[in-house]
Amino acid sequence: MASLRWVSWIMIAHLFVLTFVYPDSSSDSNKLKEIPKKFLQFAKEPELFDWMVGIRRRIHENPELGYEEFETSKLIRTELDKLGISYKYPVANTGVIGYIGSGQPPFVAIRADMDALAMQELVEWEHKSKVPGKMHACGHDAHVAMVLGAAKIIQKHSEELKGTVVLVFQPAEEGGGGAKKIIEAGVLDNVNAIFGLHVAHYIPLGEVAGRPGPMLAGSGAFEAVIRGKGGHAAIPQHSIDPIVAASNVIVSLQHLVSREADPLDSPVVTVAKFQGGGALNVIPDSVAIGGTFRAFLKSSLIQLKQRIKEVITGQAAVHRCNGTVDFFEIEIPLFPPTVNDNELHEHFQNVAGDMLGIDKVKDMKPVMGSEDFSFYQEMIPGYFFFLGMNNETLGQLDSAHSPYFRINEDALPYGAALHASLATRYLLELPSQVTFPDEKRHDEL
Ligand SMILES: *[C@@H]1O[C@H](CO)[C@@H](O)[C@H](O)[C@H]1NC(C)=O
Ligand SMILES: *[C@@H]1O[C@H](CO)[C@@H](O)[C@H](O)[C@H]1NC(C)=O
Repeated sequence: MASLRWVSWIMIAHLFVLTFVYPDSSSDSNKLKEIPKKFLQFAKEPELFDWMVGIRRRIHENPELGYEEFETSKLIRTELDKLGISYKYPVANTGVIGYIGSGQPPFVAIRADMDALAMQELVEWEHKSKVPGKMHACGHDAHVAMVLGAAKIIQKHSEELKGTVVLVFQPAEEGGGGAKKIIEAGVLDNVNAIFGLHVAHYIPLGEVAGRPGPMLAGSGAFEAVIRGKGGHAAIPQHSIDPIVAASNVIVSLQHLVSREADPLDSPVVTVAKFQGGGALNVIPDSVAIGGTFRAFLKSSLIQLKQRIKEVITGQAAVHRCNGTVDFFEIEIPLFPPTVNDNELHEHFQNVAGDMLGIDKVKDMKPVMGSEDFSFYQEMIPGYFFFLGMNNETLGQLDSAHSPYFRINEDALPYGAALHASLATRYLLELPSQVTFPDEKRHDEL
Protein backbone atom coordinates (compact mmCIF):
# COMPACT_ATOMS: atom_id res chain seq x y z
CA MET A 1 0.00 0.00 0.00
CA ALA A 2 2.73 2.37 1.00
CA SER A 3 4.65 1.89 -2.19
CA LEU A 4 1.45 2.40 -4.18
CA ARG A 5 0.90 5.60 -2.36
CA TRP A 6 4.39 6.71 -3.34
CA VAL A 7 3.67 5.88 -6.95
CA SER A 8 0.55 8.04 -6.86
CA TRP A 9 2.47 10.90 -5.28
CA ILE A 10 5.07 10.70 -7.98
CA MET A 11 2.33 10.70 -10.63
CA ILE A 12 0.64 13.69 -9.11
CA ALA A 13 3.94 15.50 -8.86
CA HIS A 14 4.59 14.66 -12.47
CA LEU A 15 1.21 16.02 -13.52
CA PHE A 16 1.93 19.14 -11.55
CA VAL A 17 5.22 19.63 -13.36
CA LEU A 18 3.54 19.08 -16.73
CA THR A 19 0.82 21.56 -15.85
CA PHE A 20 3.38 23.99 -14.63
CA VAL A 21 5.54 23.69 -17.71
CA TYR A 22 2.63 23.88 -20.16
CA PRO A 23 0.15 26.14 -18.41
CA ASP A 24 -1.45 27.44 -21.61
CA SER A 25 -2.17 24.24 -23.47
CA SER A 26 -3.51 22.60 -20.36
CA SER A 27 -5.86 25.43 -19.43
CA ASP A 28 -6.95 25.61 -23.07
CA SER A 29 -7.81 21.96 -23.06
CA ASN A 30 -9.62 22.32 -19.75
CA LYS A 31 -11.59 25.17 -21.26
CA LEU A 32 -12.52 22.99 -24.22
CA LYS A 33 -13.57 20.16 -21.93
CA GLU A 34 -15.84 22.47 -19.96
CA ILE A 35 -17.78 23.73 -22.99
CA PRO A 36 -20.30 20.85 -23.25
CA LYS A 37 -21.29 20.94 -19.56
CA LYS A 38 -21.53 24.71 -19.62
CA PHE A 39 -23.76 24.61 -22.73
CA LEU A 40 -26.02 21.95 -21.17
CA GLN A 41 -26.44 23.99 -18.03
CA PHE A 42 -27.33 27.03 -20.13
CA ALA A 43 -29.81 25.00 -22.21
CA LYS A 44 -31.56 23.75 -19.08
CA GLU A 45 -32.18 27.25 -17.76
CA PRO A 46 -35.89 28.10 -17.93
CA GLU A 47 -35.38 30.94 -20.40
CA LEU A 48 -33.94 28.71 -23.13
CA PHE A 49 -35.81 25.55 -22.15
CA ASP A 50 -39.24 27.18 -22.19
CA TRP A 51 -38.47 28.89 -25.48
CA MET A 52 -37.56 25.55 -27.10
CA VAL A 53 -40.63 23.86 -25.66
CA GLY A 54 -42.82 26.66 -27.04
CA ILE A 55 -41.32 26.33 -30.52
CA ARG A 56 -41.63 22.57 -30.49
CA ARG A 57 -45.29 22.71 -29.46
CA ARG A 58 -46.20 25.30 -32.06
CA ILE A 59 -44.65 23.13 -34.77
CA HIS A 60 -46.32 20.05 -33.32
CA GLU A 61 -49.75 21.68 -33.54
CA ASN A 62 -49.28 22.55 -37.19
CA PRO A 63 -47.58 19.58 -38.88
CA GLU A 64 -46.73 19.91 -42.58
CA LEU A 65 -45.71 17.20 -45.01
CA GLY A 66 -42.50 17.09 -47.06
CA TYR A 67 -41.88 20.16 -49.27
CA GLU A 68 -44.99 21.82 -47.80
CA GLU A 69 -43.29 23.07 -44.60
CA PHE A 70 -44.23 26.70 -45.33
CA GLU A 71 -45.42 27.69 -41.85
CA THR A 72 -42.66 25.72 -40.11
CA SER A 73 -40.09 27.41 -42.30
CA LYS A 74 -41.65 30.81 -41.60
CA LEU A 75 -41.55 30.17 -37.86
CA ILE A 76 -37.85 29.27 -38.11
CA ARG A 77 -37.07 32.40 -40.12
CA THR A 78 -38.99 34.58 -37.66
CA GLU A 79 -36.92 33.20 -34.78
CA LEU A 80 -33.67 33.59 -36.75
CA ASP A 81 -34.65 37.21 -37.51
CA LYS A 82 -35.22 37.83 -33.81
CA LEU A 83 -31.79 36.39 -33.06
CA GLY A 84 -30.20 38.48 -35.81
CA ILE A 85 -28.96 35.36 -37.60
CA SER A 86 -28.66 35.67 -41.37
CA TYR A 87 -29.96 32.90 -43.61
CA LYS A 88 -30.63 31.76 -47.14
CA TYR A 89 -34.22 31.01 -48.15
CA PRO A 90 -35.77 29.27 -49.96
CA VAL A 91 -33.39 26.36 -50.43
CA ALA A 92 -34.95 23.14 -51.76
CA ASN A 93 -38.48 24.63 -51.69
CA THR A 94 -38.95 25.33 -47.97
CA GLY A 95 -35.45 24.85 -46.53
CA VAL A 96 -33.62 27.50 -44.52
CA ILE A 97 -29.81 27.71 -44.17
CA GLY A 98 -28.62 29.95 -41.32
CA TYR A 99 -25.12 31.23 -40.54
CA ILE A 100 -23.58 32.09 -37.17
CA GLY A 101 -20.05 33.38 -36.84
CA SER A 102 -17.51 35.02 -39.07
CA GLY A 103 -18.95 33.84 -42.39
CA GLN A 104 -15.43 32.54 -43.07
CA PRO A 105 -13.99 29.02 -42.96
CA PRO A 106 -13.90 26.63 -41.29
CA PHE A 107 -17.59 25.70 -41.64
CA VAL A 108 -19.47 23.11 -39.65
CA ALA A 109 -23.15 22.25 -40.15
CA ILE A 110 -25.85 21.04 -37.77
CA ARG A 111 -29.04 19.72 -39.31
CA ALA A 112 -32.73 19.47 -38.46
CA ASP A 113 -35.53 17.99 -40.57
CA MET A 114 -38.87 19.80 -40.67
CA ASP A 115 -41.52 17.49 -42.13
CA ALA A 116 -44.34 15.55 -40.47
CA LEU A 117 -46.04 12.28 -41.38
CA ALA A 118 -49.39 11.63 -43.06
CA MET A 119 -51.06 9.98 -40.07
CA GLN A 120 -53.62 10.86 -37.43
CA GLU A 121 -52.34 11.73 -33.95
CA LEU A 122 -54.03 9.67 -31.23
CA VAL A 123 -52.34 11.31 -28.24
CA GLU A 124 -54.85 13.45 -26.37
CA TRP A 125 -53.02 16.49 -25.05
CA GLU A 126 -53.17 20.24 -25.08
CA HIS A 127 -50.88 20.63 -28.10
CA LYS A 128 -52.24 17.80 -30.23
CA SER A 129 -51.96 18.20 -34.02
CA LYS A 130 -54.62 20.58 -35.31
CA VAL A 131 -54.42 19.12 -38.81
CA PRO A 132 -56.43 15.93 -39.33
CA GLY A 133 -54.33 13.17 -40.88
CA LYS A 134 -50.97 14.84 -40.22
CA MET A 135 -48.71 14.37 -37.24
CA HIS A 136 -45.17 14.96 -36.04
CA ALA A 137 -44.68 11.32 -35.09
CA CYS A 138 -40.96 11.20 -35.79
CA GLY A 139 -39.76 14.03 -33.57
CA HIS A 140 -38.82 16.47 -36.32
CA ASP A 141 -40.62 19.19 -34.35
CA ALA A 142 -38.14 18.56 -31.52
CA HIS A 143 -35.21 18.38 -33.95
CA VAL A 144 -36.04 21.88 -35.23
CA ALA A 145 -36.38 23.25 -31.67
CA MET A 146 -32.99 21.72 -30.77
CA VAL A 147 -31.12 23.30 -33.68
CA LEU A 148 -32.74 26.67 -32.91
CA GLY A 149 -31.76 26.14 -29.27
CA ALA A 150 -28.21 25.38 -30.39
CA ALA A 151 -28.19 28.59 -32.41
CA LYS A 152 -29.08 30.52 -29.30
CA ILE A 153 -26.41 28.78 -27.23
CA ILE A 154 -23.73 29.37 -29.85
CA GLN A 155 -24.68 33.00 -30.21
CA LYS A 156 -24.61 33.57 -26.45
CA HIS A 157 -21.10 32.08 -26.36
CA SER A 158 -19.77 33.70 -29.51
CA GLU A 159 -16.44 34.34 -27.78
CA GLU A 160 -15.84 30.59 -28.09
CA LEU A 161 -16.65 30.58 -31.79
CA LYS A 162 -14.13 30.21 -34.56
CA GLY A 163 -15.29 30.12 -38.19
CA THR A 164 -18.93 29.57 -39.02
CA VAL A 165 -21.74 27.29 -37.87
CA VAL A 166 -24.22 26.51 -40.65
CA LEU A 167 -27.77 25.73 -39.52
CA VAL A 168 -29.53 23.36 -41.90
CA PHE A 169 -33.34 23.21 -41.71
CA GLN A 170 -34.22 20.76 -44.45
CA PRO A 171 -37.56 19.71 -45.93
CA ALA A 172 -38.86 16.23 -46.65
CA GLU A 173 -36.79 13.72 -44.71
CA GLU A 174 -39.62 11.15 -44.74
CA GLY A 175 -38.99 9.66 -48.15
CA GLY A 176 -38.72 12.87 -50.13
CA GLY A 177 -34.93 13.08 -49.99
CA GLY A 178 -34.89 16.73 -48.93
CA ALA A 179 -31.22 16.36 -47.98
CA LYS A 180 -30.40 15.48 -51.58
CA LYS A 181 -32.03 18.70 -52.77
CA ILE A 182 -30.11 20.73 -50.16
CA ILE A 183 -26.86 19.22 -51.44
CA GLU A 184 -27.87 19.87 -55.05
CA ALA A 185 -28.57 23.51 -54.19
CA GLY A 186 -24.82 23.81 -53.50
CA VAL A 187 -25.27 25.57 -50.15
CA LEU A 188 -23.00 23.15 -48.28
CA ASP A 189 -20.12 23.01 -50.75
CA ASN A 190 -17.49 24.28 -48.32
CA VAL A 191 -18.76 22.65 -45.16
CA ASN A 192 -16.06 20.57 -43.43
CA ALA A 193 -18.36 18.39 -41.33
CA ILE A 194 -22.05 17.91 -40.56
CA PHE A 195 -23.84 16.59 -37.46
CA GLY A 196 -27.38 15.28 -37.10
CA LEU A 197 -29.37 13.49 -34.43
CA HIS A 198 -32.60 11.61 -33.92
CA VAL A 199 -34.60 11.31 -30.73
CA ALA A 200 -34.85 7.72 -29.46
CA HIS A 201 -37.70 6.58 -27.21
CA TYR A 202 -35.82 3.47 -26.03
CA ILE A 203 -32.63 5.20 -24.85
CA PRO A 204 -32.65 6.73 -21.36
CA LEU A 205 -32.69 10.50 -21.06
CA GLY A 206 -29.16 11.78 -20.61
CA GLU A 207 -27.68 9.03 -22.77
CA VAL A 208 -26.70 8.99 -26.42
CA ALA A 209 -25.77 6.24 -28.87
CA GLY A 210 -23.67 6.20 -31.99
CA ARG A 211 -21.13 4.14 -33.87
CA PRO A 212 -18.37 4.62 -36.42
CA GLY A 213 -18.97 3.34 -39.96
CA PRO A 214 -22.27 1.95 -41.30
CA MET A 215 -25.11 2.75 -38.93
CA LEU A 216 -28.38 2.87 -40.86
CA ALA A 217 -29.28 1.02 -44.04
CA GLY A 218 -29.72 2.42 -47.51
CA SER A 219 -33.24 2.00 -48.79
CA GLY A 220 -35.50 2.07 -51.79
CA ALA A 221 -39.23 1.66 -52.39
CA PHE A 222 -41.14 -0.09 -55.13
CA GLU A 223 -44.69 -0.54 -56.26
CA ALA A 224 -45.84 -2.98 -58.95
CA VAL A 225 -49.02 -3.70 -60.82
CA ILE A 226 -49.66 -7.29 -61.93
CA ARG A 227 -52.22 -7.15 -64.68
CA GLY A 228 -54.26 -10.20 -65.72
CA LYS A 229 -57.80 -10.56 -66.97
CA GLY A 230 -60.72 -10.45 -64.59
CA GLY A 231 -63.68 -12.78 -64.69
CA HIS A 232 -65.94 -15.16 -62.80
CA ALA A 233 -64.18 -16.84 -59.91
CA ALA A 234 -65.93 -20.15 -60.77
CA ILE A 235 -64.62 -20.21 -64.37
CA PRO A 236 -60.85 -19.62 -64.00
CA GLN A 237 -60.06 -20.87 -67.49
CA HIS A 238 -61.65 -17.72 -68.93
CA SER A 239 -59.54 -15.41 -66.77
CA ILE A 240 -55.87 -14.67 -66.20
CA ASP A 241 -55.58 -14.66 -62.43
CA PRO A 242 -53.35 -11.85 -61.10
CA ILE A 243 -53.82 -12.95 -57.47
CA VAL A 244 -51.99 -16.25 -57.96
CA ALA A 245 -49.41 -14.50 -60.14
CA ALA A 246 -48.78 -11.82 -57.50
CA SER A 247 -48.54 -14.49 -54.80
CA ASN A 248 -45.79 -16.23 -56.76
CA VAL A 249 -44.06 -12.91 -57.37
CA ILE A 250 -44.00 -12.29 -53.63
CA VAL A 251 -42.64 -15.76 -52.85
CA SER A 252 -39.94 -15.35 -55.51
CA LEU A 253 -38.94 -11.98 -54.09
CA GLN A 254 -38.05 -13.75 -50.83
CA HIS A 255 -35.33 -15.65 -52.65
CA LEU A 256 -33.45 -12.46 -53.48
CA VAL A 257 -32.38 -12.32 -49.85
CA SER A 258 -32.32 -16.02 -48.96
CA ARG A 259 -30.59 -17.31 -52.11
CA GLU A 260 -28.90 -14.48 -53.99
CA ALA A 261 -27.50 -12.09 -51.40
CA ASP A 262 -24.40 -12.49 -49.27
CA PRO A 263 -25.81 -13.34 -45.82
CA LEU A 264 -23.22 -11.02 -44.28
CA ASP A 265 -24.64 -8.12 -46.29
CA SER A 266 -27.88 -8.20 -44.25
CA PRO A 267 -30.29 -7.00 -46.94
CA VAL A 268 -34.06 -6.86 -46.47
CA VAL A 269 -36.88 -7.10 -49.02
CA THR A 270 -40.36 -6.63 -47.58
CA VAL A 271 -43.63 -6.62 -49.51
CA ALA A 272 -45.77 -4.40 -47.33
CA LYS A 273 -48.68 -3.77 -49.65
CA PHE A 274 -50.95 -6.33 -51.39
CA GLN A 275 -54.15 -4.99 -52.85
CA GLY A 276 -56.46 -6.76 -55.25
CA GLY A 277 -60.01 -7.93 -55.59
CA GLY A 278 -63.03 -7.21 -53.46
CA ALA A 279 -65.76 -9.69 -54.18
CA LEU A 280 -65.52 -13.32 -53.13
CA ASN A 281 -66.64 -14.61 -56.52
CA VAL A 282 -64.66 -12.37 -58.88
CA ILE A 283 -61.13 -12.77 -60.18
CA PRO A 284 -59.85 -9.18 -60.33
CA ASP A 285 -58.22 -7.55 -63.32
CA SER A 286 -55.09 -6.55 -61.48
CA VAL A 287 -53.22 -6.62 -58.19
CA ALA A 288 -51.00 -3.91 -56.75
CA ILE A 289 -48.09 -4.82 -54.51
CA GLY A 290 -45.35 -2.68 -53.02
CA GLY A 291 -42.68 -2.54 -50.40
CA THR A 292 -39.21 -1.57 -49.34
CA PHE A 293 -35.70 -2.91 -49.84
CA ARG A 294 -32.70 -2.20 -47.64
CA ALA A 295 -28.97 -2.87 -47.59
CA PHE A 296 -25.78 -1.50 -46.09
CA LEU A 297 -23.91 -1.29 -49.37
CA LYS A 298 -25.03 0.96 -52.17
CA SER A 299 -23.96 -1.71 -54.68
CA SER A 300 -26.25 -4.25 -52.98
CA LEU A 301 -29.09 -1.78 -53.14
CA ILE A 302 -28.62 -1.23 -56.87
CA GLN A 303 -28.41 -4.99 -57.42
CA LEU A 304 -31.62 -5.56 -55.43
CA LYS A 305 -33.42 -2.91 -57.43
CA GLN A 306 -32.44 -4.58 -60.69
CA ARG A 307 -33.46 -8.05 -59.50
CA ILE A 308 -36.78 -6.89 -57.99
CA LYS A 309 -37.73 -5.59 -61.41
CA GLU A 310 -36.65 -8.78 -63.17
CA VAL A 311 -38.42 -11.07 -60.71
CA ILE A 312 -41.68 -9.14 -60.87
CA THR A 313 -41.86 -8.91 -64.65
CA GLY A 314 -40.49 -12.43 -65.18
CA GLN A 315 -42.65 -14.16 -62.61
CA ALA A 316 -45.76 -12.27 -63.78
CA ALA A 317 -45.05 -13.45 -67.32
CA VAL A 318 -44.82 -17.07 -66.13
CA HIS A 319 -48.45 -16.67 -65.10
CA ARG A 320 -49.45 -14.91 -68.37
CA CYS A 321 -49.72 -11.57 -66.56
CA ASN A 322 -48.00 -8.26 -67.23
CA GLY A 323 -45.97 -6.85 -64.39
CA THR A 324 -44.84 -3.23 -64.30
CA VAL A 325 -42.65 -1.81 -61.54
CA ASP A 326 -42.23 1.75 -60.33
CA PHE A 327 -39.30 2.75 -58.11
CA PHE A 328 -40.41 6.39 -57.67
CA GLU A 329 -36.94 7.60 -58.68
CA ILE A 330 -38.09 11.23 -58.66
CA GLU A 331 -40.29 11.35 -55.55
CA ILE A 332 -38.42 8.83 -53.40
CA PRO A 333 -34.76 8.69 -54.39
CA LEU A 334 -32.69 5.68 -53.39
CA PHE A 335 -31.36 6.54 -49.91
CA PRO A 336 -27.68 5.67 -49.47
CA PRO A 337 -26.62 3.94 -46.23
CA THR A 338 -25.84 6.24 -43.29
CA VAL A 339 -22.11 5.83 -42.71
CA ASN A 340 -20.46 7.72 -39.86
CA ASP A 341 -17.01 9.20 -40.22
CA ASN A 342 -14.46 7.55 -37.90
CA GLU A 343 -12.75 10.74 -36.81
CA LEU A 344 -16.08 12.41 -36.08
CA HIS A 345 -17.06 9.40 -34.00
CA GLU A 346 -14.06 10.07 -31.80
CA HIS A 347 -15.05 13.74 -31.63
CA PHE A 348 -18.60 12.75 -30.66
CA GLN A 349 -17.33 10.48 -27.89
CA ASN A 350 -15.08 13.21 -26.53
CA VAL A 351 -17.72 15.92 -26.59
CA ALA A 352 -20.70 13.83 -25.44
CA GLY A 353 -18.45 12.18 -22.85
CA ASP A 354 -17.42 15.57 -21.46
CA MET A 355 -21.08 16.55 -21.23
CA LEU A 356 -22.76 13.37 -19.98
CA GLY A 357 -19.96 11.16 -18.70
CA ILE A 358 -18.43 8.56 -20.99
CA ASP A 359 -20.58 5.78 -19.47
CA LYS A 360 -23.63 7.56 -20.95
CA VAL A 361 -22.19 7.45 -24.47
CA LYS A 362 -23.16 4.06 -25.82
CA ASP A 363 -22.04 2.13 -28.86
CA MET A 364 -24.94 0.81 -30.88
CA LYS A 365 -25.44 -1.93 -33.44
CA PRO A 366 -26.38 -0.90 -36.96
CA VAL A 367 -30.14 -0.87 -37.64
CA MET A 368 -32.05 -1.34 -40.89
CA GLY A 369 -33.93 1.95 -40.62
CA SER A 370 -32.72 4.67 -42.95
CA GLU A 371 -32.17 8.40 -42.89
CA ASP A 372 -31.70 10.89 -45.66
CA PHE A 373 -28.82 12.36 -43.61
CA SER A 374 -26.85 9.84 -45.69
CA PHE A 375 -27.02 12.18 -48.70
CA TYR A 376 -24.91 14.70 -46.79
CA GLN A 377 -22.46 11.99 -45.81
CA GLU A 378 -21.90 11.12 -49.46
CA MET A 379 -20.47 14.63 -49.88
CA ILE A 380 -19.24 15.72 -46.44
CA PRO A 381 -17.80 13.81 -43.47
CA GLY A 382 -20.84 13.45 -41.25
CA TYR A 383 -21.95 12.02 -37.95
CA PHE A 384 -25.44 10.91 -36.97
CA PHE A 385 -26.43 9.75 -33.49
CA PHE A 386 -29.39 8.92 -31.32
CA LEU A 387 -30.49 11.02 -28.37
CA GLY A 388 -32.18 9.35 -25.40
CA MET A 389 -35.59 10.55 -24.19
CA ASN A 390 -36.82 7.72 -22.00
CA ASN A 391 -37.66 8.58 -18.40
CA GLU A 392 -39.51 5.67 -16.86
CA THR A 393 -41.17 7.79 -14.20
CA LEU A 394 -43.03 9.55 -17.04
CA GLY A 395 -44.36 6.28 -18.49
CA GLN A 396 -43.32 4.20 -21.49
CA LEU A 397 -42.80 6.13 -24.71
CA ASP A 398 -44.07 4.76 -28.03
CA SER A 399 -41.83 4.29 -31.03
CA ALA A 400 -41.46 6.77 -33.87
CA HIS A 401 -44.22 6.57 -36.51
CA SER A 402 -46.71 5.38 -33.88
CA PRO A 403 -49.91 7.48 -33.58
CA TYR A 404 -49.14 7.49 -29.85
CA PHE A 405 -45.62 8.88 -30.31
CA ARG A 406 -44.68 11.47 -27.67
CA ILE A 407 -41.60 13.59 -27.09
CA ASN A 408 -40.05 13.86 -23.65
CA GLU A 409 -39.35 17.59 -23.83
CA ASP A 410 -36.66 17.20 -21.14
CA ALA A 411 -34.50 15.91 -24.01
CA LEU A 412 -34.54 19.30 -25.77
CA PRO A 413 -31.67 20.85 -23.74
CA TYR A 414 -29.53 17.76 -24.32
CA GLY A 415 -30.07 17.88 -28.08
CA ALA A 416 -29.48 21.62 -28.29
CA ALA A 417 -26.36 21.52 -26.12
CA LEU A 418 -24.92 18.54 -28.02
CA HIS A 419 -25.44 20.24 -31.38
CA ALA A 420 -23.87 23.44 -30.05
CA SER A 421 -20.91 21.67 -28.40
CA LEU A 422 -20.19 19.33 -31.30
CA ALA A 423 -20.10 22.30 -33.68
CA THR A 424 -18.18 24.69 -31.43
CA ARG A 425 -15.57 22.14 -30.38
CA TYR A 426 -15.23 20.90 -33.95
CA LEU A 427 -14.34 24.39 -35.14
CA LEU A 428 -11.84 24.84 -32.31
CA GLU A 429 -10.22 21.43 -32.57
CA LEU A 430 -10.51 19.66 -35.86
CA PRO A 431 -10.60 21.52 -39.13
CA SER A 432 -6.96 22.56 -39.03
CA GLN A 433 -6.34 19.06 -40.31
CA VAL A 434 -8.82 19.30 -43.15
CA THR A 435 -7.57 20.52 -46.47
CA PHE A 436 -9.76 21.11 -49.46
CA PRO A 437 -8.68 20.63 -53.00
CA ASP A 438 -8.08 24.12 -54.37
CA GLU A 439 -10.87 24.11 -56.91
CA LYS A 440 -13.38 23.37 -54.15
CA ARG A 441 -12.27 26.13 -51.85
CA HIS A 442 -14.11 29.42 -51.80
CA ASP A 443 -13.74 31.65 -48.83
CA GLU A 444 -17.36 32.01 -48.06
CA LEU A 445 -20.62 30.24 -48.61
C1 LIG B 1 -49.61 -7.70 -71.75
O1 LIG B 1 -49.05 -6.75 -72.64
C2 LIG B 1 -49.13 -7.15 -74.00
C3 LIG B 1 -48.39 -6.12 -74.83
O2 LIG B 1 -48.78 -4.82 -74.47
C4 LIG B 1 -50.57 -7.31 -74.42
O3 LIG B 1 -50.64 -7.74 -75.74
C5 LIG B 1 -51.23 -8.32 -73.50
O4 LIG B 1 -52.61 -8.41 -73.78
C6 LIG B 1 -51.07 -7.95 -72.05
N1 LIG B 1 -51.56 -9.01 -71.21
C7 LIG B 1 -52.31 -8.79 -70.13
C8 LIG B 1 -52.72 -10.00 -69.35
O5 LIG B 1 -52.64 -7.66 -69.78
C1 LIG C 1 -37.71 11.98 -14.81
O1 LIG C 1 -38.95 12.58 -14.51
C2 LIG C 1 -39.13 12.90 -13.15
C3 LIG C 1 -40.56 13.40 -12.98
O2 LIG C 1 -40.82 14.50 -13.80
C4 LIG C 1 -38.10 13.92 -12.74
O3 LIG C 1 -38.23 14.22 -11.38
C5 LIG C 1 -36.70 13.38 -13.01
O4 LIG C 1 -35.74 14.36 -12.76
C6 LIG C 1 -36.59 12.94 -14.46
N1 LIG C 1 -35.29 12.32 -14.70
C7 LIG C 1 -34.33 12.87 -15.43
C8 LIG C 1 -33.10 12.07 -15.62
O5 LIG C 1 -34.44 13.97 -15.92
